[in-house]
Amino acid sequence: MDNILEIKGLEVDIAMKAGILHAVRGVSFCIASGETLCLVGESGSGKSLTALSILGLLPPNASRRTNVATFVGQDIAHLSERQMQDLRGRSIGMIFQDPMMAFNPTMTVGRQLEEVYLRHIKRDKKAARAKAVELLSRVGMTEPEGRMTQFPHQLSGGLRQRAMIAMALMCEPKLLIADEPTTALDVTMQAQVLSLLKSVQASFGVSILFITHDLGVVAAIADRVAVMKAGRVVEIGDVYQVLKSPRDDYTRALIAAVPKAKPLIASQARSVIGSVGHV
Ligand SMILES: Nc1ncnc2c1ncn2[C@@H]1O[C@H](COP(=O)(O)OP(=O)(O)O)[C@@H](O)[C@H]1O
Ligand SMILES: [Mg+2]
Repeated sequence: MDNILEIKGLEVDIAMKAGILHAVRGVSFCIASGETLCLVGESGSGKSLTALSILGLLPPNASRRTNVATFVGQDIAHLSERQMQDLRGRSIGMIFQDPMMAFNPTMTVGRQLEEVYLRHIKRDKKAARAKAVELLSRVGMTEPEGRMTQFPHQLSGGLRQRAMIAMALMCEPKLLIADEPTTALDVTMQAQVLSLLKSVQASFGVSILFITHDLGVVAAIADRVAVMKAGRVVEIGDVYQVLKSPRDDYTRALIAAVPKAKPLIASQARSVIGSVGHV
């Protein structure tokens, strides 16, 4: 299978008053076409900085080095800011924990979805509107035309998350990067959003880099998993293999720390697959 994303030897340093923090230390992984790779690890392990460096969105006090960073075979380590802007939103869709971060509070949801299309695909208002309505419906919104005229704050948290997924899909990206997209949601909503992502992946063939600190979520969505600790990937492999017979002590400790009731999320997520689109 072709690799959509390949990262080798990624390092991120952060300049702090007290000195340099080596926040990401030689991270390597690849994501195949149509595959979901989960980055899992405790808070502060470097997951978000890894994702942000792929997108060229690191904070100003951070610097990045990498041996290899390719997206669909193209080097993305040396792109200009303008070239990165073309990549973000068009070929790589982004989904964050807080949808309010993705949306402009002063513009309607529909207008914001259309803007992404008009900017990256073509200046065709009718086509942009049709695509936005189609995607809002695809992510499970009833009366998508009505939703188009609403402002982000008028949607519930779960619906906003769906609208953000729709926005990330406007340009039919090859890769979605989702950083803790379900962490702020309750368990039922979390299961619905996970299964929505799975079904969206099946229909659009998009690859997903999914970041979470929650192994229950990993079990529900990952094909492969990379376990991060203190800026390093300590274990990477097929999700069933890693969860069933972890090789690393830290992975074992993470698994042992999962409350017994947690695996429910995985089974709930699977059981709602198929009902998505009619919520
Ligand atoms: N802008 C920043 N300034 C200073 N330290 C940061 C900044 N962003 C991240 N860090 C630090 O880098 C480390 C990794 O952060 P992050 O990638 O956000 O972790 P994770 O997403 O796994 O919780 C943490 O120790 C965090 O405090
Ligand atoms: Mg994070």
